[in-house]
Amino acid sequence: MTDRVAPPSDEVLVLHVLGARPNFVKAAPVVRGLAELGVPQGIVHTGQHYDALMSDVFFADLGLPEPIANLGVGSGSHAVQTAALLTGLEEVVLAHRPDLVVVYGDVNSTLAAILVCAKLHIPTAHVEAGLRSFDRQMPEEVNRVVTDALADLLFATSPDALSHLAAEGIDPAKVHLVGNPMIDSLFSALPRLDPEPVRLRLDLPERYAVGTLHRPANVDDPASARELVDAVLEVSRRIHVVVPLHPRGRDRLAAAGLVSGPNLSIIDPLGYVDFLSLVRGAKLVVTDSGGVQEETTMLAVPCLTLRPNTERPITITHGTNRLVTPALLPAAADKALADGATTPSGELPPLWDGASGPRVAKVIAAWLKGDNLSPASQAVPKRMG
Ligand code: UD1
Ligand code: UDP
Repeated sequence: MTDRVAPPSDEVLVLHVLGARPNFVKAAPVVRGLAELGVPQGIVHTGQHYDALMSDVFFADLGLPEPIANLGVGSGSHAVQTAALLTGLEEVVLAHRPDLVVVYGDVNSTLAAILVCAKLHIPTAHVEAGLRSFDRQMPEEVNRVVTDALADLLFATSPDALSHLAAEGIDPAKVHLVGNPMIDSLFSALPRLDPEPVRLRLDLPERYAVGTLHRPANVDDPASARELVDAVLEVSRRIHVVVPLHPRGRDRLAAAGLVSGPNLSIIDPLGYVDFLSLVRGAKLVVTDSGGVQEETTMLAVPCLTLRPNTERPITITHGTNRLVTPALLPAAADKALADGATTPSGELPPLWDGASGPRVAKVIAAWLKGDNLSPASQAVPKRMG
């Protein structure tokens, strides 16, 4: 990928702004849906995530087209990173003047894109609108609230999001319940998700658990990191744990004792297909990821989330997810390993059926022609396929 802004083009009606690992997974089905409708579009990669295993591998695994620009903003404090995002995105948006900019999820690239477009009077759409943890200590919660306040079209993944947006005074006519595009990507990848080759390559026993850890509240503070690591080590006395580790916490978690041993494999981040293959074959997942709570729900793998709250409560009511503290993790792991995957409602989240990308694309294509499809007609509940 290049580090330069591409020359101006009249070809792009829809510009997708992507920067971090979860953005790629959410965008792929929307990009595909718009391509099927013949809508001219392009991707701007902000470069928030840049390692090959945090970025390139997702473009390959998800079949995403090459970005028309890569801003190469890289890492930094929130202010440093967001400032670089704002400057870089303003330039690229002015160069292309798209009819619509689409942003995804809750990362800093999302926030910066919505701010830039609001100031330039460029219309925007937010995919994954309305999720709320109600915890403003999370950088993502700040990003969600600001993004939803400024977006012109809002695509919600679960019904609870509709009430959160209404409570914040957002016009329901702008909101469309479409289901979860991240689950479309999972459906598309399903035929390629074979745990065995990945398990053998990583030299794991037949029974294993997968861990992912990267939330600032868990990994940035040495005391929290130590508490977390002690709990994960306790789980590894019950079942082999493999942790494809996000670069954010690598050093602090290692200093707190998270190092490979007979029952613990600390490895580099995995590509999308390898990671989900591993999750598919796991007896248990321990995580603080947002997306992994959703994927385990669909793959029927027990998920213990090391957080005091979740913006995705539907993965608890309709899925396999439970919130746990580090102190309660070992006992919760015992129970999950004994009981297997259980869900309170027995029903999957509505519209998580692999057809969310085309739903988003249909609304966007109509909107580009000046027609705001009725949100009500989009929100007809449908059983999972
Ligand atoms: C970001 C998102 C978070 C999301 C996560 C997904 C924000 C505020 N946070 O967190 O919501 O859950 O992505 O993974 O946008 N690093 C590398 N290589 C990379 C990328 C990052 O080494 O390719 C390291 C750098 O040390 C960097 C740190 O990870 O400082 C954090 O990266 P950053 O993008 O700022 O935030 P994430 O923790 O990845
Ligand atoms: N993921 C991956 N490899 C890994 C860890 C995660 O492919 O080693 C995928 C995961 O399946 C999900 C996405 O990355 O689709 C979620 O990213 P992350 O947990 O970093 O972000 P969050 O969802 O917490 O914002």
